[in-house]
Amino acid sequence: MDDASLEKALLLEVSKGDVQSDAFASTAGVDHKKIVGLIKSLQASELVTSIATDHAELVLSPEAIAYLERGTPEAQAYAAIPAEGCTLAEFKAKVDAAVGDVGFKQAMQCRWVGMVKAEKGAEPRVERKAAAVEDVAREHLAAVHEKGAACGVPQKELDVLIKKRKLVRLDAWKTYVISKGAAFALERKKAHADLTHEMIMSGSWRDADFKAYNLVPGAGAPPNGGHVHPLLKVRQQFRETFLQLGFAEMPTNNFVESGFWNFDTLIQPQMHPARDAHDTFFMKTPAAANRAPEDYVERVRTMHETGGHGSIGHQYAWKREEADKNILRTHTTAVSARCLHKLARDGFKPAKYFSIDRVFRNEAVDRTHLAEFHQVEGVICDVGLTLGDLIGVLYQFFARLGMTELRFKPAFNPYTEPSMEIFAYHPMLKKWVEVGNSGMFRPEMMLPMGMPPDVNVIAWGLSLERPTMIMYGIDNIRDLFGSKMQISSVKNNPVCRLGLIEQEETVKATQ
Ligand code: PHE
Repeated sequence: MDDASLEKALLLEVSKGDVQSDAFASTAGVDHKKIVGLIKSLQASELVTSIATDHAELVLSPEAIAYLERGTPEAQAYAAIPAEGCTLAEFKAKVDAAVGDVGFKQAMQCRWVGMVKAEKGAEPRVERKAAAVEDVAREHLAAVHEKGAACGVPQKELDVLIKKRKLVRLDAWKTYVISKGAAFALERKKAHADLTHEMIMSGSWRDADFKAYNLVPGAGAPPNGGHVHPLLKVRQQFRETFLQLGFAEMPTNNFVESGFWNFDTLIQPQMHPARDAHDTFFMKTPAAANRAPEDYVERVRTMHETGGHGSIGHQYAWKREEADKNILRTHTTAVSARCLHKLARDGFKPAKYFSIDRVFRNEAVDRTHLAEFHQVEGVICDVGLTLGDLIGVLYQFFARLGMTELRFKPAFNPYTEPSMEIFAYHPMLKKWVEVGNSGMFRPEMMLPMGMPPDVNVIAWGLSLERPTMIMYGIDNIRDLFGSKMQISSVKNNPVCRLGLIEQEETVKATQ
């Protein structure tokens, strides 16, 4: 009988009155388990209900059935030993292996038989120890066989037969009385999940059953949340450090910059090698923009060509076309120049600025260099600032990043004088590493902007990638940033704790 007709047959029986599941299974000639499955499924659709009855039965194993006739192995072993005893070899030859082994051991335990202490060199012998024996285990097995659960065998002995000797098995099962359910019908209608075009066209939807809508929102699978890139985590730490020190963030949203803001305002001469296509990316379309403040452009031109305020300038013919060229900014100092110009134009006030964003350089890509990376830059602008202020601020800043030991080395930047490279002792790497570049912006840069002559600007810059790589133990920049980076590393990298331990130590030391 196939499943569909079995279901129909059962529903027909139930329509006439309550049905006993085991009786139905045997008349239908199917396994009772199959009927149980059918009941469960019909019950889910409320076609039927059922009441279960528990059953348990004790059943003999095939081995135990064999013992009913022949006696248990221990009794067989006893019987095989003559009253006067015999050699072990004679005994073993008479019985099968199970009796000779398990049976003999069991009979020894019952003290029915025993080994005779043999004299040296003599053959080992076995003998009876009891004059007569009663095969109680066989009687128990016979009782179980006849009366099942009602056998009356004491529980302790029964447990030995079930658990230890595995001669008896306890079978448990349920039977059901099946009655009509709330939605009883002679046939189960298939509930549709969707109302289809065809159902509407044919009108069959009128008689169709539909699955109920589940309007209760399910819990759903927890979404695999987003993960912040290590560079962004470190950027956040830098940002917080600057904000704690009272710095304001500069707008860095222009990757495309003019040569004017990137180089000319910084008094970097137009024939400077950095302004070559080998070092800088030049835009093709639009190749140029002409949006600089004209009065300021003129003052910058004069500074480049002839100087002023005590400077002799660079002594060359400054070209506007060069300044108007569109490039990808090579450093965030272009942003600082824009902000300082705005500050001077709007009326000078002491200011502390910072920026963290992307810059571009036309460099050969290797383990430590990419054509695009991020710079962190800090700028302080106030009356009478000195190199001492710069050094002091750098100590403050880097201490918050966990670098308390600094060294400075004279350096050159076209727009700062004096300039210093910054080195920090790395406690984990146990060596001095270059961590940044700094300086005081030249008067040739600040005065054309209209900055008061007694105002000095101290500034420093570093890359975001370098501290991030040290922090996360990454030795190839391509594993950190760019198309070859493994997304899984973004998920797996922990939150950044820039210099937390060292910071705590610094705090303790100053308390
Ligand atoms: N602009 C410099 C660089 O790209 C960093 C710097 C910023 C140096 C500010 C001095 C002052 O390396």
